[in-house]
Amino acid sequence: MNLPKQVRIVEVGPRDGLQNEPGAMLSADLKANLINRLATSGLQHIEAAAFVHPKWVPQMANSTEVLQRITRHQHVNYSALTPNMQGLRRALEAGIDEIAVFGAASESFSQRNTNCSIDEGLSRFAPVIKTAQAEGLKVRGYVSVVVDCPYEGPVDPQKVAQVSDALMQMGCYEISLGDTIGTATPGRMLDMLNAVMHFVPARNLAGHCHDTYGQALANVYAMLQAGVTCFDGSVAGLGGCPYAQGANGNVATEDLVYLLHGLGIHTGIQLDRLIKIGCDISDLLGRHNSSKVGVANH
Ligand code: HMG
Ligand code: MG
Repeated sequence: MNLPKQVRIVEVGPRDGLQNEPGAMLSADLKANLINRLATSGLQHIEAAAFVHPKWVPQMANSTEVLQRITRHQHVNYSALTPNMQGLRRALEAGIDEIAVFGAASESFSQRNTNCSIDEGLSRFAPVIKTAQAEGLKVRGYVSVVVDCPYEGPVDPQKVAQVSDALMQMGCYEISLGDTIGTATPGRMLDMLNAVMHFVPARNLAGHCHDTYGQALANVYAMLQAGVTCFDGSVAGLGGCPYAQGANGNVATEDLVYLLHGLGIHTGIQLDRLIKIGCDISDLLGRHNSSKVGVANH
């Protein structure tokens, strides 16, 4: 087996997770507490907020307050979504470490998610990326619906490759490939990945697997074998996507870490701490803990 020795994990629970939890209009203090605890588990990258329109994603309306209230840990990179210059300005004022722009591989998803076409979205990102870089921030790029779109069905891998390439050319350091509705299976994931890797090397790619159909860990394993060494996870499997009906949360970070450690891959994360945090946030939200590892160890 050709597996990496080390994998980076991006914890997206406080953003991707909480943005779609129906009961998750959590106060800034509760969110900051969650982020602070996640930082003590060894995570080095936490997506903490989204500077999007509060009308569309009310759960992220208190992003500025959240960033003001967290205790910054030196070893942690705190990032946020910024769809446009307005979002970037808000993120800079809040003292963000890193930003992420987010595009899609289907026109319908792009329109529903960001009210613009794929190309218009890329044009909006150009000044965002340039300004962020001038401010010394790194920029991550997301591509959504890399295998299936909830409105258009199967997505052409070449389209994913084209959008990923465009984001890399514009200055993103990494492209996170989103199986937004969690319908991908490993074969289709690899077909897409192979198309993307003609333009973007595996070292600049990340897997962002939602677990709607229970395929996320299988997809992670396939991507690992193909050379991907960064994965996004959401503690307790929180979340979904407000623009993708039926989408479940991301793969639970606990389950991801359990898989990686079982394969002898280093993550720097203390699984027992993460499990406790996942149980506590599930209790707080009054929801089922979607981490199998979390439930087994409760
Ligand atoms: P728009 O309506 O086209 O924006 O929205 P606009 O520039 O025409 O402005 C309209 C109004 O929005 C104005 O206010 C602006 O000030 C305001 P008004 O004059 O009407 O009072 N506005 C903003 N307010 C706050 N923050 C901003 C901002 N920008 C404009 N940044 C926009 C375009 C992208 C802003 C909107 O469609 C939006 O916020 N969409 C939310 C998208 C979102 O958060 N989706 C979920 C995250 S993506 C995801 O989950 C997928 C991912 O996890 C990967 C995967 O799983 O696939 C990343
Ligand atoms: Mg997502």
